[in-house]
Formats: sequence, structure tokens, C-alpha cells
Amino acid sequence: MTGRLQDRVALVTGAARGIGLAAARVLAEEGARVLMCDLDEEVVRSAADDLRKDGLIVQAVKADVSDQASIARAVENAVSAWSRLDILVSNAAITDDTPFESISAERWHRVMNTNLDSVLYGAQAAMPHLRRSPCASIVNVASIQGLRGQPNSMAYATAKGAVVNLTRCMAVDFGPLGVRVNAIAPGYIDTRMAMMHGNVHEHQTDWFQDVFIKHGRLPLRRPGKAEDVAGPILFLASDDSRYVTGQVLVVDGGLTCTY
Ligand SMILES: NC(=O)c1ccc[n+]([C@@H]2O[C@H](COP(=O)([O-])OP(=O)(O)OC[C@H]3O[C@@H](n4cnc5c(N)ncnc54)[C@H](O)[C@@H]3O)[C@@H](O)[C@H]2O)c1
Repeated sequence: MTGRLQDRVALVTGAARGIGLAAARVLAEEGARVLMCDLDEEVVRSAADDLRKDGLIVQAVKADVSDQASIARAVENAVSAWSRLDILVSNAAITDDTPFESISAERWHRVMNTNLDSVLYGAQAAMPHLRRSPCASIVNVASIQGLRGQPNSMAYATAKGAVVNLTRCMAVDFGPLGVRVNAIAPGYIDTRMAMMHGNVHEHQTDWFQDVFIKHGRLPLRRPGKAEDVAGPILFLASDDSRYVTGQVLVVDGGLTCTY
């Protein structure tokens, strides 16, 4: 560890598990104090306990990113604990594979609210503090589904596509205020989100193994791990990317570079 984020304060949403947890760990290992928030209070608290046992400075709070007041409280928690905020990782999201014929207005709005509105709410709450930071960075976790179409993914992919362009719009508006905004677009990553109905892991199915591994549709020949995404998040959060804003960093093992 090089202490690249020494003395900085970060807030990571959806940090109980998966990519959010891996990001919280890597930011804390680089010296940041990290507020981990998640809807799943028990799991996020226990994850934070584990990181503290490794000597990392983290706290955990329950927050629902789809609720503007809840995410605003989480931001205030971070600032009251550590008196500043430098990094916001808007990562929490839900998956959805409802076919077009059966998606209800309620489900559509739920996905938009959790996966898209949350990114705006997080930025709105964080900006007054980020503007005061000399090294402010927002990292939004989108998806390659925000760059391509996929069967039965209208709600999820539309929300992620909007996160991509919201990232660009924020970069334009926040750049003059000294706040960089970038997005990560992960591909197939082994987390709970990749579990299909009936607790089958998508990446262990015959079709995934045949198409993506055996027949080579996935150039790096393996699904990603949460830790594979955490490094790129750290890059965008740190000064290593100080002249990068409004960009989408695809982390997909090469999936979208072929067809
Ligand atoms: N796993 C993949 O293959 C993949 C691919 C592309 C993009 N992503 C994106 O990466 C991000 C992280 O996903 P993951 O794979 O780690 O999934 P995950 O399901 O393992 O973790 C998501 C976390 O978000 C939390 N969460 C859900 N709704 C919330 C809410 N309303 N408020 C607060 N927390 C909430 C969950 O409790 C969970 O801990 C998401 O934005 C997801 O869309 C994942």
C-alpha cells in the first residue's frame, strides 16, 4: 500500500458485499477513512468489523440510496465523523431481468429509483462537501449493460445507460468546481448479483462456460472478481487520474471489444 488516499474521507454505497465491499477495502488500505453504507445493516456492520480487524479505518451505517433523505444522512454521518468528504463511490444497485411483456410500472420505477436516481441523490448530498476538497472524485458504478442492449434487461440497462450519461453531465457541471466524475462499467463479475433464480450461478452454467470460455467470447477467459473492479475504482478515486473526468472505464475482461 502506498497511502495514496491518506487523510481522505470516502463514502461507498452498497458496501456490504461484492464490488462495494472490495472498493471500501482498497480505498481504506490506501489510507482513506471509509463510511460503508448499505440497506443490509447487519451484513454491512459485520463487513466493517472485518475490515477494522485488519487495522482499517471504516464505519458502517444503514442507508437506502433510493431515498434522498437516507443518503443525505449517510453523507452527514461521514462528515460529522471525519470533518470532510473527498470521494463518493455510488455503487449500490439492484438487478432486474423482467421481460418487456411483464414489467410493471412499479418495478420499472423501483429499478430507476435504486440504480439511477440514487446517483443523483448521492451527488446532491455530497457536492457541498466535495467542493471544499482539493482532491474530490465521484465514481459511479454503471455496467456494460449501459453501453449495449441485452435480452430482458430494459429497466436495468436503461438505468445504467442513463448513469453513463449522467456521469458525463456531472463531469461538465462539476469540473469547474474542482470535482471529477467518472464511471466504471463492469462486465461479468462473480458477486451475488450474478446469481440467477434458484441460486444457480450464471457463470457456472454450461451456456456461460461454452460461449464465453470455451468458444472465447470473453478474451480473458474468466469472469471477473469484485477485486478486479476495485483497482479501477481506486484509480478513478485517486490523484493517479487527476486529469480524467467524464469517462467510462470498462472492466469486462475484453468482452465488449469483440462480438
Ligand atoms: N456483478 C456484476 O456482474 C455486475 C456487472 C455490471 C455492473 N455491476 C454493478 O456493480 C454494482 C455492485 O454490484 P455487485 O455485483 O457488487 O452486487 P451485490 O448484489 O453483490 O451488491 C450490491 C449491494 O447493494 C446493496 N443495495 C441494494 N439496494 C440498495 C439500496 N436501495 N440502498 C443501499 N444499498 C443497496 C445490496 O444490499 C448489496 O449489498 C452495482 O451497481 C451493479 O449494477 C455488477
